[in-house]
Amino acid sequence: MIHIIPKPTDTQSDNSTSMVMAELQKRGVPYAKLDLASIDPFNLPVSGETIWACGIKQDGIQFELLKALELENHVINSTDSIATCASKVTTTAKIICSGAPSPATCFTNSKEIVQKFIDAHGGKAVYKPVYGFDGNGIYMFHSADEIKEEPPYYVQEYVKNDRDYRIFVIDNKAVGAIKRQSAHLTHNIHQGGTGCAVEIPKDMADAAESAARAVGIDYCGVDLLPLEGGGYTVLEVNGTPNWHCMTAPIPKLLADYLIRQDKESRR
Ligand SMILES: Nc1ncnc2c1ncn2[C@@H]1O[C@H](COP(=O)(O)OP(=O)(O)OP(=O)(O)O)[C@@H](O)[C@H]1O
Ligand SMILES: [Mg+2]
Repeated sequence: MIHIIPKPTDTQSDNSTSMVMAELQKRGVPYAKLDLASIDPFNLPVSGETIWACGIKQDGIQFELLKALELENHVINSTDSIATCASKVTTTAKIICSGAPSPATCFTNSKEIVQKFIDAHGGKAVYKPVYGFDGNGIYMFHSADEIKEEPPYYVQEYVKNDRDYRIFVIDNKAVGAIKRQSAHLTHNIHQGGTGCAVEIPKDMADAAESAARAVGIDYCGVDLLPLEGGGYTVLEVNGTPNWHCMTAPIPKLLADYLIRQDKESRR
């Protein structure tokens, strides 16, 4: 059976978990909700099952519980891939290592090295928290002295743009995309950006799918920036993505994927 860990941030009007559960119900596929917080990691309540974690709390406990469940179950997304996506350093390392496109990035404890990086990249760069999300804590700066945060520093070449793209990828296939726009640096919807669904040209699909493969993840949201000369570069991969503003039938596609995976793991 498919066991579902609901997203902790679901609300009545924005409920990712129940959208997928409704699709399973439509197909008559049995599923059960799993309350992650109540799991005893030394006495697992389920074994040999498929577990879909729509989202988990970042409270230092839930990730460990999911890892324990993974010892005897098929967890989607895998805890390794969720951990990779949580860290911008690990994600960027995997993207660059795989040959997928990425902005030039520097990770260091040294402000001198940050300054050299800025000087080599047009006198500015973008600072991002290593475990950041929703565009929080991201800013552009022109001198290493402007960084007020403690080291280490994850800084990236500024890629000139007026929009970004979020591509939903399932089983290494780009299935939905939105364009996000705002008048400022971060176009995230949580930062006031507006999203609208767009078609997926081949070069966009290629960039997003290569990022998903680099991370090795069942499904994800890949953030891309368009390049002035054409093509796209990968900012990051989100391991518990929402599908806000997408017109592609993501809940249906996710339900189909879960059913497929559950069948395969029983063969
Ligand atoms: N190198 C860059 N050059 C220009 N703009 C950038 C760069 N990196 C990030 N941005 C802007 O900041 C936004 C957020 O960046 P990113 O997706 O890396 O961070 P996040 O906080 O993890 O977002 P998410 O909500 O997807 O978790 C991007 O969508 C883009 O608008
Ligand atoms: Mg992002």
